[in-house]
Amino acid sequence: MTTTSQDVRAPLIRPMREDDLPAVALIRRDGFLDLDQRVLPRSAPDPLAPSEEASLGWQERTGFTLRHDPGGCWVAEVAGELVGFATSSVRELTWMLHTYVVLPVVQGHGVGKALLDAALAHGQGCLRGMLSASLDPRAVRRYRLAGFSLHPQMTFEGPLDRALLPVVDKVREGSAADVDLMNSIDRQRRGSAHGVDHEWLLGHARLVVSDTGTGAGYAYVSPQGGAQLLAATNRRTAARLLWECLAATPPGGSVSQQHLTAANEWAIDVGMAARLSLRPDGYLALRGMKPPMPYVHHGVFG
Ligand SMILES: CC(C)(COP(=O)(O)OP(=O)(O)OC[C@H]1O[C@@H](n2cnc3c(N)ncnc32)[C@H](O)[C@@H]1OP(=O)(O)O)[C@@H](O)C(=O)NCCC(=O)NCCS
Repeated sequence: MTTTSQDVRAPLIRPMREDDLPAVALIRRDGFLDLDQRVLPRSAPDPLAPSEEASLGWQERTGFTLRHDPGGCWVAEVAGELVGFATSSVRELTWMLHTYVVLPVVQGHGVGKALLDAALAHGQGCLRGMLSASLDPRAVRRYRLAGFSLHPQMTFEGPLDRALLPVVDKVREGSAADVDLMNSIDRQRRGSAHGVDHEWLLGHARLVVSDTGTGAGYAYVSPQGGAQLLAATNRRTAARLLWECLAATPPGGSVSQQHLTAANEWAIDVGMAARLSLRPDGYLALRGMKPPMPYVHHGVFG
């Protein structure tokens, strides 16, 4: 990119279009690769750019957000070139930030603030805000200055020893028929339903549900094992579902369970019982709400 820093201080912020998706996917690739190189611990494997398949999957999901929340999706242009973007959604009275990236050479000159302000305007009138923040000090500064509280997130990872898995009962496969139940649990746990997000999630992940006389909950299972999103009315049901998600780890595989907060010690206890390794991993940034529990938030849909 050949723009001067003076150009960068006056970006054009405009609504994202469907035909921007391939270009914003490249910005995401470059922004997160640069971030990983800056912040990952030395013990971590060398960061890699997402595969072509992963990039197309991300574009498909971002297209879904764009169709449902066109007012939450913005790009920044400098001298006719795309240099950054932010995507966000509103579900009931909660605003959620999905993806937010500025090209590394342009970072630190105010483009990010202009994009975040545009995305936040989509949530005007919302009572709550929620996002899963990276370790980037620039991002974290932006979120705190926008009034978000920063709750440390943790990740469990390591090879899964199947001998440690308990027998899990009272869990069944879920389907679209469970959407009302899931929306009701979400309203109790985080103040708003996922609504249309279930359309996307049901089409892209296995759903497991536990619904007994004493508690109810659900989880979307990651193909690599672990929960992409989990909500329950009590800890016992949540722990049962998390074990079911860990058991889905392919044989001989390692699991990475992200998005755990200190409010969810039931999940920390499951990971400890599975002898996985716990490490800090960014923040759950919240406005107008406390960390939901028992709950494992989705990295994009909250
Ligand atoms: C987060 C991101 C989108 C922000 O975009 P940006 O254009 O850099 O944002 P801005 O320049 O508006 O704001 C960055 C702030 O951090 C400050 N900053 C710059 N370098 C910094 C550093 N090393 N440590 C702390 N703060 C820093 C800037 O001065 C600015 O604060 P100010 O406006 O009060 O002066 C961008 O940095 C990025 O793409 N990061 C990598 C991907 C990422 O982590 N995305 C967020 C996912 S949750």
